[in-house]
Formats: sequence, structure tokens, C-alpha cells
Amino acid sequence: MLPSSITAPVGQPSDFNDGWRFMRFELDESAAIPRYDDSGWQQVRLPHDWAITGPFDPDGDGSTARLPWRGVGWYRKTFTLDPADAGKQVYVDFDGVMAFPIVYINGQQAGSWDYGYVSFRVDATPYVHFGAENIIAVRVDTRRHFSRWYPGAGIYRKVTMTVENPVHIANWGTYVTTPEIGHDTAAVSILTTIENHRSEQVPVTIETIIFDPSGDKVASSESRGSISPSGTEQLQQSLTVENPRRWDIDDPVLYRAQTLVRVGGRLMDEKETTFGFRTFEFTSDDGFHLNGRRIRIQGVNLHHDQGPLGAAFNTRAMERQLEIMQNMGVNAIRTSHNPPAPELLDLCDRMGLLVWDECFDKWDATVDHVNGEPLEEFGEKQFRNFIMRDRNHPSVVVWSIGNEVGDQFGNNDGKTPERIALMSDLIRKYDSTRPVGYASNDTAETVPGEMFEALDIIGFNYGNRFSLYWHRFPDSKVMYGESACATTTRGFYELPLPRSKTDYSDRHLLSSYDRNTTAFGDIPDLEFHRLEKSRFAAGEFVWSGFDYLGEPTPFSRQARSSYFGIVDLCGIPKDRYWLYRSHWLQDETTVHILPHWNWPEAEGLTVPVYVYTSGDEAELFLNGESLGRRAKEKNSLENPNLALGRPASASTAAAGAENAATKATDGSFDSAWTAAGAGAARYRIDLGEEKKIRYINVLPTALQTRPGRPGRGPATPPSYTVQTSLDGATWRNTSVIPPDLTARRYVPSFAATGTARYVRVMFPQAAGQTPGIREIEVYSYDIDEAYYYVTRKYRLMWDDVLYTPGDLRAVAYKNGERIGESVVRTAGEPANLSLSPDRSELSADGYDLSYIMVEATDRDGMLCPFADDLVTFEIEGPAEIAGVGNGNQLSLEPFQANQRHLFYGKAMLIVRTRPDEAGNIRITAGSEGYEPATATLRSK
Ligand code: GAL
Repeated sequence: MLPSSITAPVGQPSDFNDGWRFMRFELDESAAIPRYDDSGWQQVRLPHDWAITGPFDPDGDGSTARLPWRGVGWYRKTFTLDPADAGKQVYVDFDGVMAFPIVYINGQQAGSWDYGYVSFRVDATPYVHFGAENIIAVRVDTRRHFSRWYPGAGIYRKVTMTVENPVHIANWGTYVTTPEIGHDTAAVSILTTIENHRSEQVPVTIETIIFDPSGDKVASSESRGSISPSGTEQLQQSLTVENPRRWDIDDPVLYRAQTLVRVGGRLMDEKETTFGFRTFEFTSDDGFHLNGRRIRIQGVNLHHDQGPLGAAFNTRAMERQLEIMQNMGVNAIRTSHNPPAPELLDLCDRMGLLVWDECFDKWDATVDHVNGEPLEEFGEKQFRNFIMRDRNHPSVVVWSIGNEVGDQFGNNDGKTPERIALMSDLIRKYDSTRPVGYASNDTAETVPGEMFEALDIIGFNYGNRFSLYWHRFPDSKVMYGESACATTTRGFYELPLPRSKTDYSDRHLLSSYDRNTTAFGDIPDLEFHRLEKSRFAAGEFVWSGFDYLGEPTPFSRQARSSYFGIVDLCGIPKDRYWLYRSHWLQDETTVHILPHWNWPEAEGLTVPVYVYTSGDEAELFLNGESLGRRAKEKNSLENPNLALGRPASASTAAAGAENAATKATDGSFDSAWTAAGAGAARYRIDLGEEKKIRYINVLPTALQTRPGRPGRGPATPPSYTVQTSLDGATWRNTSVIPPDLTARRYVPSFAATGTARYVRVMFPQAAGQTPGIREIEVYSYDIDEAYYYVTRKYRLMWDDVLYTPGDLRAVAYKNGERIGESVVRTAGEPANLSLSPDRSELSADGYDLSYIMVEATDRDGMLCPFADDLVTFEIEGPAEIAGVGNGNQLSLEPFQANQRHLFYGKAMLIVRTRPDEAGNIRITAGSEGYEPATATLRSK
């Protein structure tokens, strides 16, 4: 291979991704020496993820996708530098290497890093030869990396090389802030760090010019300074921009600052920084405000992999992920749980997406902190690069110090109030213009308040914790760091419906009726409802936007990718996508019917039909006959609780007298009510009339915490009994539904039979304290029916449609006006393949992609919902297959192949252009028994 020459102008980064050779092998350092013979190594173009090609190991670890990411790999590349550049500085910038890279230049170690998600720079100057061939070698070792998801392996993000004059702007050395943004003017402050690599004092002039979104020059400033020999100097400039245009999610306008560094009139360096004007604030009583108006954060968590492409970063793949999310109504991304590729932030700036930029997952477990370095030093080093790289992006609104860090036991790196303060302050050292956040899974009722004192925003994961915590500390600013955690498989429906969150199919696929979640998670509807009641909270980040590689809960032993995504691993929407869209984009029309209408085995039986719509009503027709018009029930969750607002009273052995107990029936878990006086307490509720009772839920206060584990869940709930009565005189016992710690239901519930008018809860023991009650709920449903009641507020459901083949049509209405309709038809035999590229004009840069959806249809073009045939692809012209997939979480078929089985009628082919080869690309898809299909793309 020819060495690549570095040709970009001085000060500008050169693409350094071509011409690498790779070998997956545990070689010693001899692989770093220049004359080492690497001619047998694989030729690769970066970004590169060595593990995504597989093969899958059926016995491998499901939580990291059963792919071979663990091991040692070597990369080598030759390059030349212009002899005229002798005496200049040479830097290699790595956006991310998984993990523990050691970089050698011409046989000598030039740099190293640990944490695989953080960008770093290597100063190659002392090791390079100008006008001669150089060799760079990178050793990557993932064996010491621990991960809870698929991390990828190798140099999985881009690399650049930059030649700089001896006096130049430091790496990430421009820091733009906007201390004041008014209607007429805005103040811009620019701090520029300049390095002097000469051995003499150097006087410098820096000029900064600001360009507005249309490219017009709107402000400039010139300053002088003097830098000591081999020293660094920071120069501060203040500029004013008139009539600043705001960066906003609807109008993401960007300004540009150009910085010119001169020494004795000679231009030494020139850099450009993109920035924006926006104000934002997390409040403790009104959620999140952007540019002065409240915005509900409709966010998703995204892991860094790109499905069939693995961890190898591709800008178009990421742009497509964000487009799919934005079309569903997403306005914010949480980069769970690590710094993203820098291009993601460029995209969010440009597309108008807010970012919760996160540095770490459990810093006591998954962050490559294994070298015995004190956590403080490790944190400082990672935060420095993380913040300095990302701090000019207007999209970034939170710096997150981590996710779900365990508490400190023994000598681990677990969290303590002091450590959270330490980590937060390390961040503030590099940027104090954004709030510092953390995502917690602590038991919100018991976590000590001082734990989070140092934070500006707390993202609580799951289970309404944000609300429970906020009611203890109403000055805190909270949101959902992770919500929902629903689990589904695209295209898979099974009857009868799952009866509970964790009533999973034994086929290791999960029903698309959107009723399954993890034990600790909840259906999307319940999260919508909670947030609608909680104006103080800023919103949610759903777990998760896309299915990702690894963490296939609850089937870690069988599957290789997650079930959490709102879209599947290939980005194909699951039904849930339309549920979110109908709620998040209420001004856009959504009318979506599920399931498909091919149920031969159900002829004469009933099949439930759901409609997800932005309307408030819909009428369903089967073969033209109306099955009725239904409306969303606006106040659903309040309806089924028979105790809501009913008179309640309490008495204690000591006080005897009863006191009114409205807080036990006010519909809020957040307010509590305690009987006056001490001693055994009784709480009694009058339902007003006889009602059928099936299930009673009691939420007491004073939950005991597990000894020695502050903030963790209580192990022993207070003991009490529940009785019902028709006349308030004769009482009947209920039976206990025991607490379920995996479902995080820490207290027992009670099952009753028959009818009753009165319910009472009795705490026998006193032990000095009187137990209080947050809420008593009484239902005429069983526990699971009560759980799903909230779906009536967000879905339209016909639970027992008598199945006959034909067409099912939903017509939706909003405020009485017809807004749209949608149809599913019983499909006939599979006959045709159809190919639908998301883009057909591509750029011949060797990175651009077209995602081509492959579908099996019947003669009339209806999707065949059970087609699972093998489809083979042929490509003619300047392109190649970048990956194939179908969203099946169980599939161990390779992602890089020229064929793929359909999964519930669909598969995805991802085609990549070839560098510098333009022309037409013709794609043919064929499968036995089908008419072949073709599509034509163009690479320019
Ligand atoms: C959360 C965790 C995520 C993911 C999720 C689903 O508790 O923060 O990283 O593991 O659960 O299991």
C-alpha cells in the first residue's frame, strides 16, 4: 500500500482514515517496529469495528451481543510528511478507540489512553520524519474493558492528523460562551489558548471574526499577547453581536467564530468554531425552559452502536437515527452512557436536538478505570477532554457525571455525597455554563438528601422516582433519566395478550401489543400520565430509542440484541413508535392500526385491535362494517380507583378519636397521612356504596431501609392487614399478594373477593411510632387490569374483534373533525419483493449510505406479515454492502453478508458508496418463489 501524504494546509486536520492494515492478534511490541512485515494483514478503512463481522458465538455472552469484541488488535499505517514542514508540530487526534490504545510512531511509544469513549490527542512531533516514510502502529486491548452492552472493538471513530506551526491554537483551545443574550444585542466571550513551541518569547495578535447564520460578518475583535518560551497563554475577547438570532429546536441557527493567530503579521493559525445563542433553565417548579418558554423534554436514550454496522461510527447512519427519532417527536438525546462521536453533536446542533451529554456509566465498574489511578485523577483526565471537546455546542444542555453508580461499599469507587460533589466540581472547572446532572436508580423515598446536593439536575430512572424524590425535596430539579423500559419485537403478536408487564412469550420474542416491560419499567402510557401530572419535571429520556446490540433483557440467554427500542435494530418502527408519535406530535396526524390482519387460526375467535392516533376518537370498520367509535378516556387513571376522594379516617389506640385522612385518598403517592397519637393505628375508608372489590393497594410511609445500605430498597415492609366490610361492623380478611422485589413492589397488595362498602388497614404494633399512609387504592379490577387501565387514555382499543379476513379500517377524529385513516388488509400469498431506499442520490465518498427496506408483499402490494424467506442481494456499480439485518433479536445470521432472511415480512439492506467512484448502482433482490426486485441509486 502506498503511504498517504499529509496534504491539508497547516492548521487544518487531514483525514487519516485510509490505508490502515489490521490484525487481530496478541503480538508483542515487535508489531510496532517500522520494518515489521504487515503485508498479510487485512486492509481497512477507519472507522473500524473488528467484532461486528462476527461470527456470533451461540455460547457467548448475550449481554454484549455474543460478538468477538474481547481481545487484542493491531493497526498499522504508513504516511509521509512534506519536508517543507520540518520544524512544525504534528498531532494525531483519535475520536475514540476501544479500548486501552497504545500509539507507536516509528517504533516508539508516542501516547496512550484508557477509557474507550473519550477523544484524545497524541503529539507525534518528537517521533516523525519529514520528507521520509513514517509508520504509526496502534495496539488496542479490550480484555480489561468491562461492558453491560456491546462496546465494539478497535479504532471505531475517525482519526485526523494536523500539522501546526510552532505557534498555534491549542487542541480544543477555543471556548465560546454567551454571557448575556438580549433581544437587541448579545455578548460573546471567547477564550483562546495558544501554545508556543519555540524556545523564545513570542508576541501574538489574535483576531476573531463572527459570522451570522447567513455568512455575514457581524463582529470582530483584535487582541495582543505575549507567550513565554515553550509556554501557553490564554487570551480573552469580548464581542457584541446585534440582533442575535436564537438557536432553538425549531430554528437551529448557528453562528461561526473565526480565529486568526498572527506573529509579526504572519498568519500562524486559523480555526473556526460553531456556536449558538440560546438561554435555557431547568426549574424546580416548571420543568425545562428554552429561550424563555417551557418545553417538555421528549427524549430518548441512545447507545453508540449503529445496529448492523456495529460501533464503527458513520455520520449518515447517525443522521438517519436522529431523523427517525425526530420524526417521532423527539427533541432531546441522552448519550447513554458515554461521550458520543463528535459528529453526533454537530448533527444535534444543526438539527435542533437538545443533548444530555454523559461521560460515564457506573464509574465504579464500566469506565476502564483499572490502573490504580485515584478516581479523582482519572475523572479529571476524562472530564477535561470530554468537556473541552464539547463545550461550544449549543445543543448540549447537561453534563452528566454518570449513570447508576453503586453506593460505596468497602474500597470501591461507589458514590458518596462527597464523590458526587468532587465529580461535579471537576466538570465545572471546564465549563460552568451548563448544569451538572446524574442519572439515579436510587430508592427515591430513602436516598439521603445530601447525596445529590452538589447536582443541578437529577435524572431519576424509572418508577415515578423523580416525583417521589421531588415531593421530599421540592427545590430539586428533576426529570426522567430513563423512562419506560418497554420490551417488544417488531411484527410479533401473540394471543392471549400478556397479562402483566413480565408475562413474556416463551418464544423469546416480545409481543408488539406494548404490554410487556421489564419488572422495574413501565408501559409508555403510564409515563405519559405521570409526566402530565408533574409539571415540575422537565420530561423524559425513554429507554431506549433504538434496539441496540447486547443487553437482551429478559432473554439474555437466548438473544443478542435488546428489545427496548422504539424502533428495531435496523431502525424499522415498532408499533410503539406510533404511540409515542401520537402523544408527542399532537399537531401531526398519526393513525396506526395493530396488529396485522392475518390470523387464519383465529377464524371465528376474537383478536384485539389497537389504534394509536393523534386524534381523540376513531371508528373501526371490519369489511366496511362499523365496530363502533371510541374516544380516549382523558381521566382514566383516576376512574378505576374506587377510594379516590372518598372519606377516610384514622384512629390510634392511644388517641382513640378519629382524624380525617384525606391524604390517603387524594390520588397522590407523594402526600402522606398519619393518624394522630401513638399506638396501633387503624385507617378506614367509606366507598359510599357497595362495590365489587378485587384488589387493594396500600402504600405506607416509614419504609425500612436495608441495614447498612443507605438509599437502597427496603427489605421488610411494615406489617399490616387489610379487611373489607359491607356494614362497617363485620369484617372480612383479604389475601396477601406478597411484595415482589424484582418488580420493585416493596409492599404487599391485597386480593379481595365479593362486594364491600368499607375497607380498613390495621397496623397492629406501635413500637413508639405511628405508621403513616401515602395512599390506599381500591379496585374492582385485578392487579394487572388496574395496571393497564391508563392505556385507555392514550390508545383506542377494541378488545374482542371477531376475526374474519378482509380489511380493517380506522378513521380518526380530533375535536369532531376527521383527521385521517389507515387500513390493514389480510395479505394473500407472498408474491413480490419490494425495495424502498431511504435515499437514492449518494455521495461518492466511501461513507455515504442508503438504507433499503426489503418487504415481501402479496399480488396487491400488502405486506405479508409472516414472510421469513431468505433474500439474496446483488449489487452492480460503485457500491458495496455495508450490512444487512432484520430486527430479529434472536438471529445469529452475520450482519455482513449478501443475503438475509426476512423477519415478519421485512429486512434491511445497507449499501455504502465506494470512495471516488461515481455512477449508477443497481441493486437486485431475489428469493425463491418471488418476482425479483430492483432499485437504482446514484453515487456522485
Ligand atoms: C437501566 C440502566 C441502563 C439499562 C436499562 C435497561 O437501569 O441505566 O443502562 O441497563 O436499565 O436494563
